[in-house]
Amino acid sequence: MKVTNSLVAVLASAGLSEAFWRMECRGRAGLARLDPIVAPGRVSQHAHAIFGSSGFSMNSGHAELAAGSCTSCAAVEDKSAYWSPQMYFKHEDGTFEEVTQAGGMLAYYLLNKDAGNPDKGVKAFPNGFRMVAGDSNRRNYSIGSRNFKDADPEKSLWAMLGETSQEDLAQRAVGFNCLDYNKTPEGALVRHYLPEKGYLDGNCPDGIRLELMFPSCWNGKDLDSANHKSHVAYPDLITDGWCPKGFDTKLPSLMFEIIYETNKFKGIPGEFVMANGDAQGFGFHGDFASGWDEEFLQDAVETCTDPSGLLSACPLFNLQSEDEQRQCQIELPEDLVNEKVTGKRGKSLPGDVPIRYGPAPANVQAPGADQTSHIPVPTVTYQPAESSAYQPGGIFNGDAPSSNSSSSSEEVKVTALAQPEPEPEPEPTPTPTPTPSEAPLPSGYELVRTEYVTNGKVVSKIVVIETVEYVMLAAATEIETVTVTATLDAQKARRGLNHLHRHRHAGSH
Ligand SMILES: *[C@@H]1O[C@H](CO)[C@@H](O)[C@H](O)[C@H]1NC(C)=O
Ligand SMILES: *[C@@H]1O[C@H](CO)[C@@H](O)[C@H](O)[C@H]1NC(C)=O
Repeated sequence: MKVTNSLVAVLASAGLSEAFWRMECRGRAGLARLDPIVAPGRVSQHAHAIFGSSGFSMNSGHAELAAGSCTSCAAVEDKSAYWSPQMYFKHEDGTFEEVTQAGGMLAYYLLNKDAGNPDKGVKAFPNGFRMVAGDSNRRNYSIGSRNFKDADPEKSLWAMLGETSQEDLAQRAVGFNCLDYNKTPEGALVRHYLPEKGYLDGNCPDGIRLELMFPSCWNGKDLDSANHKSHVAYPDLITDGWCPKGFDTKLPSLMFEIIYETNKFKGIPGEFVMANGDAQGFGFHGDFASGWDEEFLQDAVETCTDPSGLLSACPLFNLQSEDEQRQCQIELPEDLVNEKVTGKRGKSLPGDVPIRYGPAPANVQAPGADQTSHIPVPTVTYQPAESSAYQPGGIFNGDAPSSNSSSSSEEVKVTALAQPEPEPEPEPTPTPTPTPSEAPLPSGYELVRTEYVTNGKVVSKIVVIETVEYVMLAAATEIETVTVTATLDAQKARRGLNHLHRHRHAGSH
């Protein structure tokens, strides 16, 4: 713990601590074909799991959300709405069934500054602000020539590889975290597709956590835009880094986390599919409409900077019990009160949304296109070459059995790059998996682990691994979290650091 304490001290003295809070929304306020952003005033195409203000409706704007009588989130001041497509299971006989969630949803508010303009700080979402992250019609992963099963290159290389277009970043802002509470957790935003049923059955006994990072660089004027995206942009490392030109107002970086209990379908033949007809997760997306009072939120952004991320560490929030959160429900419009969206359904998704496999976007595929299988998955050989894997911002390696940082005996332990293990079902060429190695680290590295645990089934953990040298660098610019796999030799580690240096200098003009 000495190491952690000293690191926190370094961060604090540099005034750059990665402050954040984790908004817990234990109650699902609704499950319905409603989407006031994309389908205002009408029933939406697909069903969403909805969290937040009871003022949510097919027409709700900021005033209606703010006037909601309750919220399904922990802080009563948060009258925002958060929604994303619900997951279903398609049985072999063609019938669909709701996949239940564990623990509601978490919305991380990361208060990362723009690395290019840290003095400007973080601005609260203005009243009426809303946005969409992800693309419901997307049915493939296309970043350069990468296959979706490849591990991402380390973040410091993205710019050099030409992989920082907004479209690239948006695809990497989607994550599917395989949960096995008996293992070292996977990193956040590491796998960008929903694993197939056999993989989930064999490897994810505690379900799958869907992760979605929202853009946090704003153009400073528009509360929304025609496609609900172009008024905002991702910084070049998704969670942090440099905001692109014209988007120099930094907002809180929002990240959704929702756990689906895919494990309840273990051994049952069929496939998982999202309510928007997406069976591989490429089209996972989410919507956010702020229902905060802007002034209050600005106070919170400036005050609630405890590095624990706990809501209870912020004196501004009035917290309500989990029961109260669960009791808060939206009112359904007449058109939808009788629509069966929970439990077992007939042979279609709500709204009769067809399942559309890729690679062409769902909306350009001919109606009735006869597609019955996933896009072909080339066999990919894992390349353990990446010396280090950068995990997003504060790193939310979730869902470990509860224990807190000071009682952990694993302080100096290398977290292996989250990498799918061999699929249990037969594959043409099984993908070899590097075993998590705990070899000694190259000299000069210090590994730090900090854990934060919430109650209930949703437990989140922050892992910090840095080099001594890098902390000094970081003090001059920004904080970055670096996870280093133990397989690298000192030479490679130094090269990795050089990349970081270059990246930083490139951005500092
Ligand atoms: C992959 O998806 C993108 C975005 O939907 C689309 O523009 C592109 O055409 C797709 N690629 C193929 C091969 O269909
Ligand atoms: C962690 O556990 C120790 C010993 O059990 C306890 O004293 C300490 O308060 C705990 N810390 C947190 C942050 O819960």
